[in-house]
Amino acid sequence: MSATLAYVDAVDLLDADHKLVQKLFLDYQALCDNGAAPEAKQRLALKICGDLGVHTQIEEEIFYPEVRAAIRDDVLMDEALEEHAEAKAAIAQIQAMPPTDAAYDGTVQQLFATVMDHVMDEREQVFLKARYSTADLRGLAPRLYARKKELQSGKPAPMPAGKKKVAS
Ligand SMILES: [Fe+2]
Ligand SMILES: [Fe+2]
Repeated sequence: MSATLAYVDAVDLLDADHKLVQKLFLDYQALCDNGAAPEAKQRLALKICGDLGVHTQIEEEIFYPEVRAAIRDDVLMDEALEEHAEAKAAIAQIQAMPPTDAAYDGTVQQLFATVMDHVMDEREQVFLKARYSTADLRGLAPRLYARKKELQSGKPAPMPAGKKKVAS
């Protein structure tokens, strides 16, 4: 039985990622509250950054193009990409920062706020519009799942373009 059957559709799969990353951010907060060592906080922060990197990549490669074509709302999808860019900037900052930096926790918290704002926008607008569109959300789930596993296993090669190649 395929593990993708654990998800009803693409939205279900993506929102499971959202819930997991939210939990990891709360775990980070708990480490801060308990005065954990910088290395322990960094380990978790880098996991959060890695998970978010994979999540945004599968959205941008597979989910967003399909949804954009189906809902025909470029403004909304462009806003989502801008929010991704904002999150990526914070991720790059965290990845380059020593965990002893005085701004480390604040940068992780800023990423948390950015990500949660974006998650709300996805849930309330992108996912909602996608559900009421012609996008094949069930068909997208196995593609998202396969690409996620590929990226998690360290294969960075981009997906082949969805459009058919035009013979020249
Ligand atoms: Fe998302
Ligand atoms: Fe997103």
